[in-house]
Amino acid sequence: MYEAYFNNRFTNTLVFYVFLLLLLLVSPFLFVWELVSYVRSCFRRKENMSGKVVLITGASSGLGELMAYEYAKLGACLAIIATRKPESRLEQVADRARELGSPDVLFMFGDVSKVDECRMFVDGTIERFGRLDHLVCNAGINPLYSINNDVTKFEHVMDINFWGSVYPTQFAIPHLMKTKGKIVVNASAAGVLNPPRCGFYSASKAALISFYESLKFEVSPTIRITILTLGYIETNIITAKYSSNGVGVRLRKDMKDVVPTMEAEPCVKAVVDGIRKGATFITEPRFMKALFLIKYMFPQLHQFYVNMYFPSKNRDPKRDG
Ligand SMILES: NC(=O)c1ccc[n+]([C@@H]2O[C@H](COP(=O)([O-])OP(=O)(O)OC[C@H]3O[C@@H](n4cnc5c(N)ncnc54)[C@H](OP(=O)(O)O)[C@@H]3O)[C@@H](O)[C@H]2O)c1
Repeated sequence: MYEAYFNNRFTNTLVFYVFLLLLLLVSPFLFVWELVSYVRSCFRRKENMSGKVVLITGASSGLGELMAYEYAKLGACLAIIATRKPESRLEQVADRARELGSPDVLFMFGDVSKVDECRMFVDGTIERFGRLDHLVCNAGINPLYSINNDVTKFEHVMDINFWGSVYPTQFAIPHLMKTKGKIVVNASAAGVLNPPRCGFYSASKAALISFYESLKFEVSPTIRITILTLGYIETNIITAKYSSNGVGVRLRKDMKDVVPTMEAEPCVKAVVDGIRKGATFITEPRFMKALFLIKYMFPQLHQFYVNMYFPSKNRDPKRDG
């Protein structure tokens, strides 16, 4: 019935421009709506975390470590995960979380890209605490890629960033159903904005956003899902030192010297606050939301500032080749 319209180039183009015009007309109302939603969210009740159980993957450093401390201060019991490495700080993180107020902290070594290990740490959490309230899928890596690199060396990015969230989610869902719990997934603004050198990272994070947006329809309202789309936050992952540890392009400077970044602590505070209020998306720093809109509505402008911020000088030609 609609074939005549779908296959007609003129009507297709017309619909797009009519939609743009409509957007222009309703944008004052959308602006007010957004503002009112923001003000209302400031007064929304926060979940009491005292005695609740939170499982965090990738908690040996960076955002995962700070989230563990934030939850600990709220009196939550923690299960924290990272890979087994001689230099791992996971045990120290557990000690610090106890000092900060967590009644009980279980640390387990596990690789999120391995399905059996994910089953093991979700089961281990239930065995110890008997319940699960929040699953925080945070573990991730960001090796930088250029067209001169061998693409087969990047398969593990999808395994860790995408499957490493999906596997624990699968095992945690039955337990979260019982507690009407929450799933938090640490995607990235890169999954929307696709900065250069981040092809595989952005693809894995975009896959996360798509997967969890779809999952939301199946598990809500019993389980709430919060998707984090954070910009550049000051952790190891955005430093030149980190980029020299694995495959891909090596940075000459920390990203902090190239693009605007946010300190990790205020970011994590805002994130945990948002999770407790049941936010569906959390973007920090907040201005990144404007970039999301620009990306879709004015792609040429997006291309302009990306080229401006990411000149190809900030990389090592030896590793790039
Ligand atoms: N910092 C940012 O600008 C930013 C922005 C947006 C999103 N994110 C996301 O935030 C998450 C945390 O990153 P971060 O910035 O805090 O960097 P980070 O300090 O490097 O933290 C990464 C964590 O993931 C763990 N991990 C890595 N591979 C793992 C595996 N196979 N199994 C289990 N754990 C593993 C690491 O521990 P081990 O190496 O000890 O196993 C570490 O605890 C990532 O998903 C990242 O993509 C970061």
